[in-house]
Amino acid sequence: MVELVRHPDFDNVYWAAFEGKGRKLVTKSLAPGFKVFVDEWTFEHKGSEFRMWDPYRSKLAAAIMKGLKRFPLRRGDRVLYLGAASGTTASFVSDIVDAEGKVFCVEISSRPLRDLLQVCSKRSNMLPILADAGDPCAYAPLVSSADVVYQDIAQPDQVDIFLKNVRIFLREGGYGVLAVKARAIDVSKRPCEIFSEELERLQRELDVLDTKILDPYERDHAMFIVRK
Ligand SMILES: C[S@@+](CC[C@H](N)C(=O)[O-])C[C@H]1O[C@@H](n2cnc3c(N)ncnc32)[C@H](O)[C@@H]1O
Repeated sequence: MVELVRHPDFDNVYWAAFEGKGRKLVTKSLAPGFKVFVDEWTFEHKGSEFRMWDPYRSKLAAAIMKGLKRFPLRRGDRVLYLGAASGTTASFVSDIVDAEGKVFCVEISSRPLRDLLQVCSKRSNMLPILADAGDPCAYAPLVSSADVVYQDIAQPDQVDIFLKNVRIFLREGGYGVLAVKARAIDVSKRPCEIFSEELERLQRELDVLDTKILDPYERDHAMFIVRK
């Protein structure tokens, strides 16, 4: 027996309470019957399929579990997703923005792109793009503008790449979501030192609405929610 309640503040996100198992974060699947990863856990409720959103697999789910106050995604949003990998988190973003929205999935590596192509083939609102997020001109004709820029790439210049994309694609008043991996920037510094340096850089040109340290779900990662 499962009890399902809408998240009070976040569009298209639900809590599912299971007897004896506590509550789990879930989304309503836009592609019922298709699993994005092999051991994905789904269940039926009142004729719809729901998918468990595991905070150990998705940094956005981890940020919600850590008490994220401002959730930037809404039904119908156009999302530029940088570092889509095989499409795990991007598929949950696809559930949230729903059929009226669009998720432009940029991935540099052809290996995860093969799986990403499969995921996108089942979801009409996801578009795979093989490109370097550091070279936004390569995909500018496809994307034009975005309500949300989401980035999760572990590169030393990850904040520069994010700001470059935000300047070009994010509409005024739009939101940015940036996952920062401290160890990709500098292994010799403590993660908290790196997070405060990067926060300062973001604050120079954006409003920083929320910051969440993602431990214990993702070690040495932080997530920043910004507004242009
Ligand atoms: C941590 S994984 C992303 C996981 C994914 N966001 C998820 O939660 O399902 C980082 C991905 O970023 C990609 N990446 C790294 N540098 C990139 C770049 N410059 N442009 C686009 N993708 C990049 C990597 O190939 C890798 O697949």
